[in-house]
Order: sequence, then structure tokens, then C-alpha cells
Amino acid sequence: MTTYKQVTAFAPATVANVSCGFDIMGFAITGTGDKVTVTLSDSPDPVVYLSGPYGHLIPSDRDKNTAGVAVNAYLKETGNNHLRVGLSLEKNMPLGSGMGSSAASSAAAVFALNYLLGSPLKTIDLIPFAMEGERVACGSAHADNVAPALLGGFVLIRSYSPLDIISIPCPDELYCAVVHPHIELKTNDARRVLKSDISMADVIKQSANAASFMVAIARADFDLLGRSMHDLLAEPRRTQLIPGFEIARQNALKAGAVGCGISGSGPSIFALCKGKTVAMAVAEGIQQGFSEAQLESDLFVSALNAPGTIIIQAN
Ligand code: HSE
Repeated sequence: MTTYKQVTAFAPATVANVSCGFDIMGFAITGTGDKVTVTLSDSPDPVVYLSGPYGHLIPSDRDKNTAGVAVNAYLKETGNNHLRVGLSLEKNMPLGSGMGSSAASSAAAVFALNYLLGSPLKTIDLIPFAMEGERVACGSAHADNVAPALLGGFVLIRSYSPLDIISIPCPDELYCAVVHPHIELKTNDARRVLKSDISMADVIKQSANAASFMVAIARADFDLLGRSMHDLLAEPRRTQLIPGFEIARQNALKAGAVGCGISGSGPSIFALCKGKTVAMAVAEGIQQGFSEAQLESDLFVSALNAPGTIIIQAN
């Protein structure tokens, strides 16, 4: 088993919920993500060293930082509490973006640590530790960002207890447009607006859409995919928190999107598209919608079979 003294990992941004899969579906995208360096050290270090454009906005206290909490959970659960590791986080992703910013930090941290120790755990077994990072970030240990951030591609969480994670291969021509408007929407605020009780009629519609979404992916049936992309749990309550949402969605559909919804808890909007060219036009349409709401934004276009967390340096 090869072990290292210092390892750096990169974890990608992710789109969670994917309309009909609240808390149970997510996928990785290319274009942005966070980097974490884990270093074996001789002395305890309660601080996460922060850099990158958004590093100054997050806590450096290891017990409050998502990367720190995920690493602490790994060390505790694997009986490695005696190990001293230094942590540096290059925070490239904006907070409260709906693109899995906290998940990218947690995923990169546990992946780098596991590699440093000679990869005793499989990537899928790192998910519960990264989920602890989500718990400290927003009060809910959901896996729909951390699982795809670690594993890459499209992921379905069939069960949280016990955790049952399934990777779903997607058609190669399936692309995603994600547009991030420059406002912050905290996940815990976006969860607070959710209804606590759901009607039986809505449960039936939501489960039918989630099931048909999976069939559509398996059959590369883009019409069925579009018909399945409706959310009755979160989106009806959350769109009011996102200026320009309705125009942006209409623009996406006019530009040829298969379906369009809120990325994670927002404010980013994502759309699934057949082919990269359509996805580019759709992203521009969404961006135009935000600009009509006086919001600047960044756009990302990615295939759905995007890589998960990777090692970028190991010494
Ligand atoms: N499933 C989570 C939510 C994702 O919608 O609250 C947060 O990124």
C-alpha cells in the first residue's frame, strides 16, 4: 500500500435534485470545483488554510469548515484519530450557488485523505464522511451533491438508511447547461421554505416522474425525459427566491432544452439538452433571463458523464 506525505484532490461542481429527484438525484459537471491539499504533519492543527476567490468567506475553524468536518469524521470512524493532518482548501466555488459548493470541498478533502493513507476505503465508502460536511454547512446531511462529486456521473440515492447509492450511466449526447446568477441563496434558507407535509396526490406524481426519468435515461428517450422533469416538492416553493426564474426557464425551453429546473437549492438554474450545441444556446437563453432580472451570471455547459473527484498531485 503506497502512502504519501501530501496529496491534492479536485472535486467538481454538481447539480442536485434534477427536478423530480429531490434529495435523491444528482450529477457531476465539468468547469468548476474546489481543491483540497492534505498533508501529514507532526502536530495538531485546528485551522483549515484557505485560498482561492471565495476562501475568505468560509470558516477556517476545522470544526466549522465542511472540509475539516469531513476529514475529522473520516479520521474518527476509521480509528485514525491519532493522525495529524494539515488541510488547505482552495475555494473556487461561490457559496450558496446551488452547484454543490460545500460538497466539492468535503469530497475533495476525504478523497485526498484516503489517497494519502494508501486508499484503504473505496470511493463510495467516503460518501458518509462527506455528508457530515453537508450537515455542518446547511443542517442536513443530504448526499445528492457529495455522492456525484465523489463518484462522478449521475447518481441515484435509493436509500439514506442504510445508504444505497447507484451510479446511472447517461446517454453520451445528454448535456447540461447550468447558469449561476450572482446572488447567494443559502441551502438552509431554501430548505426552510419547503412544505413539511405533502399530499398523497403529489407523492404519486413525484414518484411517477422520478421512475419515468430513470426509464428515460436508460432508453435515451428525450421526450419522456422532458415529460418527467417536474418537481412538486421543492420548486413550487423555491422559485420565488430566484429573480428571473420563470423567464429563464421559458428561454431555455424555447432554445430547445429537454427540461429545466433549479440546480440544487438554487439560485442556479440547470437544463438538460440533447447535444452540446443546443446546451450552449440554452445556457445563453437562461443567462438572458437573468440579465432581464438585472443579474449577472456565469454559465457552464457539461456532458452528464463527467468525472468525479480526482487526484491532481501526490508526493
Ligand atoms: N437536495 C438539496 C436541497 C440540495 O435541495 O436542499 C442542496 O444543494
